[in-house]
Amino acid sequence: MIRLHVNIDHVATLRNQRDTSYPDIVQAAELCLEAGAQGITVHLREDRRHIRDGDVERLRAVLGPNGSAGRADSILNLEMAATDEMCEIVRRIRPDMVTLVPEKRNERTTEGGLDAIATRGAIERVAAACAEVQARLSLFIEADPAQIRVAPELGAVQVELHTGHYAEAAPPERPRFLERFVACAELSHELGLHLAAGHGLNIENVGPIVAIPHMAELNIGHSVVCDAVMKGLGQAVRDLLLAMKR
Ligand code: PXP
Repeated sequence: MIRLHVNIDHVATLRNQRDTSYPDIVQAAELCLEAGAQGITVHLREDRRHIRDGDVERLRAVLGPNGSAGRADSILNLEMAATDEMCEIVRRIRPDMVTLVPEKRNERTTEGGLDAIATRGAIERVAAACAEVQARLSLFIEADPAQIRVAPELGAVQVELHTGHYAEAAPPERPRFLERFVACAELSHELGLHLAAGHGLNIENVGPIVAIPHMAELNIGHSVVCDAVMKGLGQAVRDLLLAMKR
């Protein structure tokens, strides 16, 4: 059974457009869990453009064995850059999992995988913070065997394969990406690493990713929030028309 962790960053994007208290991030997390998701992923970016520190604190209180959602198996996965500021936040908030991503100020979303070889020192500092609070460390990387081989040495217990290029490719191009994912999956398994995948996944392209051997976890966000808008818009209009009639 592959775990689904829903990335709810873009619920916060909508809220921040008007600086309202809605849509509420905790309510969004609870809806995802009620629907069967096993965890919530949020990316606390340096510029706080969507998720803010207070959101992560509130989500901490909802998820996990002591969380108010009453779902002992649910987890809080904190995506972040490998900075000293974020290490302090890990120590304070104690997420269940930390996923390290490369972060560029001007990117619209995470553009590529982490270069774990080049940023070794920074990753080791995050690994130390994770060890202090028993958070599991995952590295978001391209499907590159060299990046996977270095992960256990750096204290990571999981790698998350970047599926963004696969998702953007035309369907006839996809087998090429999938072959690479399968080779990386086998290598991760040999090294004792858990395997996750994410970025750009949706209802249409998720099937072959689920079929990758040893796949344990998916992190999916943007398409879920987009689907939620299109599936909920009609009901929202019906509710508004009812309110106008009353
Ligand atoms: N995994 C990682 C490491 C990410 O950075 C993101 C985007 O924040 C996702 C998964 C989710 O990607 P998407 O929003 O395209 O589903």
